[in-house]
Amino acid sequence: MSLAERKINHASVEAADRRYNIHPFTDLAVMEAAERTVIASAKGNYVYGEDGRKFLDGLGGMWCVNIGHGRDEMAEAIAEQVRRLDYYSPFDDLTSAPMATLAEELARRAPGSLNRVLFTTGGSTAADSAIRLIHHYFIRKGEPTRKHVITRDKAYHGSTYLTASLSDRGYSTDWMAEGGFIHHLSAPGLYRRPEGTSEAEFLDILAGEFEAKILDLGAENVACFIAEPIQGSGGVIVAPEGYLKRMHALCRKYGLLYVSDEVVTAFGRLGHMFSSEAEFGIVPDIITCAKGLTSGYIPAGAVIMSDEIYDVLSRPGTYFNTGFTYTGHAVACVAALKNIEIIERERICERVREIGPYFEERLAPLAELPLVGDVRGRRFMMCIEYVADKERKELFGDDIRIGKRIWRHCQKRGLLVRPLAHLNVLSPPLTLERDEIDFVAGVLHDAILDTADELAREGISFG
Ligand SMILES: Cc1ncc(COP(=O)(O)O)c(C=O)c1O
Repeated sequence: MSLAERKINHASVEAADRRYNIHPFTDLAVMEAAERTVIASAKGNYVYGEDGRKFLDGLGGMWCVNIGHGRDEMAEAIAEQVRRLDYYSPFDDLTSAPMATLAEELARRAPGSLNRVLFTTGGSTAADSAIRLIHHYFIRKGEPTRKHVITRDKAYHGSTYLTASLSDRGYSTDWMAEGGFIHHLSAPGLYRRPEGTSEAEFLDILAGEFEAKILDLGAENVACFIAEPIQGSGGVIVAPEGYLKRMHALCRKYGLLYVSDEVVTAFGRLGHMFSSEAEFGIVPDIITCAKGLTSGYIPAGAVIMSDEIYDVLSRPGTYFNTGFTYTGHAVACVAALKNIEIIERERICERVREIGPYFEERLAPLAELPLVGDVRGRRFMMCIEYVADKERKELFGDDIRIGKRIWRHCQKRGLLVRPLAHLNVLSPPLTLERDEIDFVAGVLHDAILDTADELAREGISFG
């Protein structure tokens, strides 16, 4: 029997996992002892445990399985491409039909003059490449001092050394942030805005902070601003109305480039192929994307840049020093093309715009329950924030692991959500039906109440 076909039972998977496999972003000491949920298969909006348990996929894999799991036509497209051309180098003058076609299709759908595509292996490598090529761009343009990058607290741009530093300060790797070339602004979340400020006043504060930072660094030293249209992993943070437009206008005023990290928000999650312009009214200079690009069936990412940037990078005598072995991998590009075809054929963006408000509406009443401080998000990108004290918005201590507790109660009832410290995040497949939305809301309701009982039994206070 081949290695790939080997059927292994739950106990042996758990043992192998515990002994050899390192999980991303986890407390390794806790993980040593933790039980595993072994996911064996997936179809549509559901995933199945190796022990036969069925779960509704409330997190779309990891913000990525936009078209739902286990599509036969996707499997066939991928298999056919492997048979025809598994992989070949994208370097020098070599290309392939899937890579060239996908670049064209992305350029057609991206806003403004964003017509030039560099493929990467995922979201981190897309954001990392974007910053590197922006530095390169300003050197070529004769503005070599433009090096500083402005980002925000609660951002998540990836897990390379550079992109971890671009992310929330909690991930930051010392010298690139604080004293280096990366600078964090406040997160724009309304729930935790300064006491007594209106949404409009908060917007002024945030824009003022950005402008002051640019002036403090000297505009001639600042390269770009990078932002997710809605911050995802930081807790689905929706900024005040008009925020992205204000930030974009300040970028234009001071000559900074604007990088829109659409790794989560593109390919339908907010109801558009790209959300920067369609949802927020801005045309950035660069869009980075991944995840929903292939709906997670095969890893892939892309940096989509404007013709203006490309024109500088392609000046004679300028060598473009960025790329990967798997840039434009033929199988990944075919998966992306099939994914785009399915999203458009099934009118998935339109469906998200139609059903998304129902998802928001069904989750909103959870805010009345104990433990729940805030329910927020937009369309198929939602989040629940838990607090120990609703009035003061005080968080539980980390040792309470509140997000994980509720997640566990959800799992018992057949729903997978994402536990993130004091949050549960929801980013289901975009094919979720209304009755499944009802199920998600019902399970969360019961899981929250069960967790409140559990805390009360343990003598942990909340209110
Ligand atoms: C907005 C955003 N950018 C970048 C990334 C990193 O993508 P990847 O994990 O594919 O490297 C993520 C991952 O969650 C993300 O949410």
